[in-house]
Amino acid sequence: MGTTGRGRFITFEGIDGAGKSSQIAAAVARLRSAGHEVVQTREPGGTPLGERLRELLLHEPMHLETEALLMFAARREHLADVIEPALARGAWVVSDRFTDATYAYQVGGRGLAEARFDALESWVHGGLQPDLTVLFDLDPTEAARRLAGTGQAPDRFEREKADFFGRVREAYLRRAANANGRIRVLDAAQPMDVLRAAVLDEMDRL
Ligand code: TMP
Repeated sequence: MGTTGRGRFITFEGIDGAGKSSQIAAAVARLRSAGHEVVQTREPGGTPLGERLRELLLHEPMHLETEALLMFAARREHLADVIEPALARGAWVVSDRFTDATYAYQVGGRGLAEARFDALESWVHGGLQPDLTVLFDLDPTEAARRLAGTGQAPDRFEREKADFFGRVREAYLRRAANANGRIRVLDAAQPMDVLRAAVLDEMDRL
């Protein structure tokens, strides 16, 4: 470890349509203005191979367990090539989604066995968890309304119905309740500027 010490690892989570993207940009700008080197990245993706896996994950039909394995395969690559080196040199890493998304979508949404999830998580990043996770919590009906307003063609996940996103939301909240304060739940139904202030507050606290 260098003189700067280890960087911080921050992740953002929420169901599709909860409005993560613009808030992540604001958070990254805040951290940079505080003088940190910030690596902004996303999952699935974040590396050339990870982005190719992302294409498959978002558009190719596949079995549930294949989906979970590919999410973690992309994550292993992301950790080895981007996240771990950045943290080691003292940079801050801000990722749009990480393993909490696998818990919410594959375990909660699709019904992957928790034991399978636990095994993959400890294999792929045993000791490492984000220092802070900001979870945007939103009612699935409102999230669907927001997604419809973007006019973009929905991917394989976005085409899922409200009951799927209801299970994803519940799983996120369950995970947050058991995360010893690592996961901060923000109400994404608040006005954009109020939500932004809450996000920036979280960055300042860190
Ligand atoms: P994004 O649209 O926020 O970039 O995320 C891509 C989709 O992938 C989103 O619908 C959530 C899903 N996803 C999972 O199902 N499991 C995961 O582990 C991750 C990282 C994403």
